[in-house]
Amino acid sequence: MGLFGKWLRKLRARDYTKNDIEQMRTGEVPSGENIPKHVAIIMDGNGRWAKERGLPRIAGHHSGMKAVKRITKAADRIGVEVLTLYAFSTENWKRPKAEVDFLMKLPQEFLSLELGELIENNVQVKMMGNRNLLPDHTIAAVEDAVRQTAHNTGLILNFALNYGSRHEMLEAAKELARQAAAGKINPDEIEEEDFERHLLSGGLPNPDLLIRTSGELRLSNFMLWQLAYSEFWFTEVYWPEFSDQHLYDAVREYQRRARRYGGL
Ligand code: IPE
Ligand code: IPE
Ligand code: MG
Repeated sequence: MGLFGKWLRKLRARDYTKNDIEQMRTGEVPSGENIPKHVAIIMDGNGRWAKERGLPRIAGHHSGMKAVKRITKAADRIGVEVLTLYAFSTENWKRPKAEVDFLMKLPQEFLSLELGELIENNVQVKMMGNRNLLPDHTIAAVEDAVRQTAHNTGLILNFALNYGSRHEMLEAAKELARQAAAGKINPDEIEEEDFERHLLSGGLPNPDLLIRTSGELRLSNFMLWQLAYSEFWFTEVYWPEFSDQHLYDAVREYQRRARRYGGL
């Protein structure tokens, strides 16, 4: 079988429609070997999107939820294996209570609307973040989705919820220190992999591509360890307006980059 035949068979195995394949052939949708396995997104700009339209900030968050659905489908369509979405940071508690309360209800709302389709599409829902402080109703909704999708084998949709990277790394360091103090491990033999295993992303590959929307050029305490060698892509577009085509633009640029990891 020629290269084209093999490629086509691989695509068919993923249940692509004829239309999908045609769009890949014409380059409308990125395809090929070097699709990023793990895409992480800092979904930013909901508040400014709303403000520009004379709407309350929460309207921006609501609209952002629709973008989550859209981008999950788009990522799945091109063969991304893990999509991590930064939904709420450990610093976001500083916001007014009404906004925080609204944000804490969004996972329930999203999942009550979308869980059926996520299951149908073989998506596995995961959560990465500190469970403490999250309201019971938020945790219950997320854990139910995690449980109901645990046996799925498709795209991993990983929500970073009450996530902060410094806290995550501190906890990993504490756990290794406890094990060392208990004589279970030798501190001189701790490897990068041992540290990584204790991070909240343990078991997932590191992100290949990081996207941040809304024009901010910072990490805001997101995956500091895991992003060491990721490719970064920034856009001025606010998260509620982030479309399939924006994701595909980012992926196409990723495909053109040379990842050298310090080598030549
Ligand atoms: C991102 O949008 C969503 C969260 C941080 C929860 P923002 O709410 O940060 O929107 P801006 O940055 O204020 O526009
Ligand atoms: C980062 O956005 C957190 C999320 C997208 C969930 P922020 O809007 O909280 O970041 P800063 O405050 O501008 O750094
Ligand atoms: Mg913001």
